[in-house]
Amino acid sequence: MQTSRTQVGIVGAGPAGLILGHLLHGHGIDSVILERRDRHHVIERVRAGVLEQGTVDLLHAMGVGDRLAREGMRHDGIHLAFGGERHRIDMAALTGGRAITVYGQNEVVKDLIAAREATGRPLSFDVDDVSVHDVTSSRPSIRYSRDGVAHEVQCDFIAGCDGFHGVCRPSIPTEALTLYTRDYPFAWLGILAHAAPSLDELVYALHDRGFALFSMRSSSVTRLYLQCAPDDDLANWPDDRIWDELLMRLSTRDGWRPAVGPIFQKGITPMRSVVADPMQYGRLFLAGDAAHIVPPTGAKGLNLAAADVWRLATALAAYYADGDERDLQAYSTRGLRRAWWAQRFSWWMTSTLHRADDAPPFDRRRQQAELDYLVQSTAAMTSLAENYVGLPFA
Ligand code: APR
Ligand code: PHB
Repeated sequence: MQTSRTQVGIVGAGPAGLILGHLLHGHGIDSVILERRDRHHVIERVRAGVLEQGTVDLLHAMGVGDRLAREGMRHDGIHLAFGGERHRIDMAALTGGRAITVYGQNEVVKDLIAAREATGRPLSFDVDDVSVHDVTSSRPSIRYSRDGVAHEVQCDFIAGCDGFHGVCRPSIPTEALTLYTRDYPFAWLGILAHAAPSLDELVYALHDRGFALFSMRSSSVTRLYLQCAPDDDLANWPDDRIWDELLMRLSTRDGWRPAVGPIFQKGITPMRSVVADPMQYGRLFLAGDAAHIVPPTGAKGLNLAAADVWRLATALAAYYADGDERDLQAYSTRGLRRAWWAQRFSWWMTSTLHRADDAPPFDRRRQQAELDYLVQSTAAMTSLAENYVGLPFA
């Protein structure tokens, strides 16, 4: 067994682990990042693409925002489509200039990996058999194997950034952890198409046939989603059917519709909400999807992860600077408050915009009234806007 030592052991090289590692580097704090998948998989995974203002500001403050500034698409507004009409919400005007930036999560990860490797600090892909140990002691450790060699890293702290299916959260005794879960009666079928976006902002559509979302990845790639059954299968969705449904659900009476083009990626994503409480156990701290899952409707997943690790890095910096443990002790309480605010908003977006098959006619009319009221109420649009562009990190 090869042993080594670091200050913070990070499990997972997704956005949470990579942002944390770079923030710690900025504070002069040692870390190792251990990732079970290979580099190509981590970079090429197709995920979400909306960055809150706070996440954009954080990436720039970390010095990882150059390509984001060049290639990211800043959006001051979003559109809600219902009843054949499209209504723009000017989020920047309602939030004092805060906005979102569309920039694929895989692009964020690509930039973060490059930044990590430029620091020369350890980032290991293809690690196996990761396990965490002695997390309630002052000397926790991570064991893993790589290329057939067993390793142990002795840490001061461990950050579980290993996503919902990782090993860190399950290492917490079940009696010490509560999982709050909610499954939604639908899933999202998402596509990437070689088609120039026909609008310069996102469109969320409530339709009797089900929810649809128009997004984008670049000036030549449109990103689209449509609501489907939770147990649906891609085999049921040939390209023609996908486009028929998207055009029926998204087209508005003013003649706007998504541009159609060759689909080069498609997938079905289940929708659920999960919150793990607490987000810390001894010297193990959970961040990102390891701690919570949100339905994608509010575009919160990556941004919640960024807020978690900003909070954790700030707390660790205070500890190493002068032994102040107050922020570390408050990590879970503060993280859960933000996670539940994001859950509330994501649940509201999801339940307002999706059509449950067994929903009585009353519910559909109520949903329409919800949106009809919202688009004529500055107060209601402001509430949506401040949550969508992201509340300041705290
Ligand atoms: N050992 C090492 N690495 C692991 C292990 C393990 N046992 N289990 C999982 N991992 C890795 C995964 O391969 C993945 O690269 O941890 C990483 C977790 O990354 P994400 O799942 O992207 O989670 P997170 O960094 O919290 O980012 C949240 O990603 O999944 C999206 O919608 C989510 O946008 C949100 C964002
Ligand atoms: C995306 O562009 O992938 C996207 C945008 C908004 C969402 C979810 C996903 O709510």
